[in-house]
Amino acid sequence: MKIVEQIDAMQRVAQHAKKTDRQIGFVPTMGYLHAGHISLVNEARRRVGSTGLVVVSIYVNPTQFAPSEDLTKYPRNLVRDRRLCRNAGVDVIFLPSDAVMYPGRAEGLHSTWVLEDRLSQGMEGASRATHFRGVTTVVAKLFNCVLPDIAVFGAKDWQQAAVVKRMITDLNFPIELVVAPTHREADGLAMSSRNAYLSPAERRQATVLWRVLCEAQALVRQSVNGLPAASLKRTLAKRVAAEPDARLDYIEVFDGATLAPARRVQQGAHMALAVYLGKTRLIDNAAL
Ligand code: PAJ
Repeated sequence: MKIVEQIDAMQRVAQHAKKTDRQIGFVPTMGYLHAGHISLVNEARRRVGSTGLVVVSIYVNPTQFAPSEDLTKYPRNLVRDRRLCRNAGVDVIFLPSDAVMYPGRAEGLHSTWVLEDRLSQGMEGASRATHFRGVTTVVAKLFNCVLPDIAVFGAKDWQQAAVVKRMITDLNFPIELVVAPTHREADGLAMSSRNAYLSPAERRQATVLWRVLCEAQALVRQSVNGLPAASLKRTLAKRVAAEPDARLDYIEVFDGATLAPARRVQQGAHMALAVYLGKTRLIDNAAL
């Protein structure tokens, strides 16, 4: 397993793979890897085959965090990440520093952004104003470094995957986006690097996100002709409010492909929510 820190070196590795007809499968991450990330690595390997090149990037991207957010305390453990990647058969870890990724940013010179301005408006984009501008910018930059044929993203961040898919189409990246299922703990909590912040009491209450999604699935499946979104959201908001340390940020029902909000919830609609457990903000989503 190679660890590559420079952009020109990463591009050389990628170009060599292309010359030798090896497909490149790419999993972008911010590190502090867990089984959810590794399931994306496994999916990348399935797609590119044993001769393909599987690349994982580990980079905590400062431009997708607002000043008030958790950039400086975002969890990091490179020793563990390297071990997990090696065990999963990763070929290359791309590990750029801030100076490599954003030359001149510290001096205020970085001034070019990639902005998707439709799908990124609601939900995460409404709660975190400049978040998706940072995501699309860094993902475009990472694509230019890694030159992948296939990029694997997690369904856990449903809106992020939709925004990146739009960017790939709109900017003509020759990349196939694969969205892999959300990996969960035994009690249903979606795996997330941010789960590490939770106190034992918050961790117990954090299952409320999955419980709400399951309840929504059951209610929609029992209904004859769907349900009004507003009353369903009110019912579910009460479940969140019943947890002493939980505070609902948003809960939305929408079309899973277009992200268009739904007024009536039918089977197959998509639901996403964001909940604070103490200071930690968790998100989850599912098809109903
Ligand atoms: P990060 O939160 O590290 O997630 C990296 C990838 O892992 C994303 O595609 C995310 O959807 C996926 N993922 C996270 N938890 C998962 C789970 N429980 N099951 C399946 N997949 C899961 O998302 C980012 O980093 C960043 O925004 C990034 C795309 C790297 C840009 O900086």
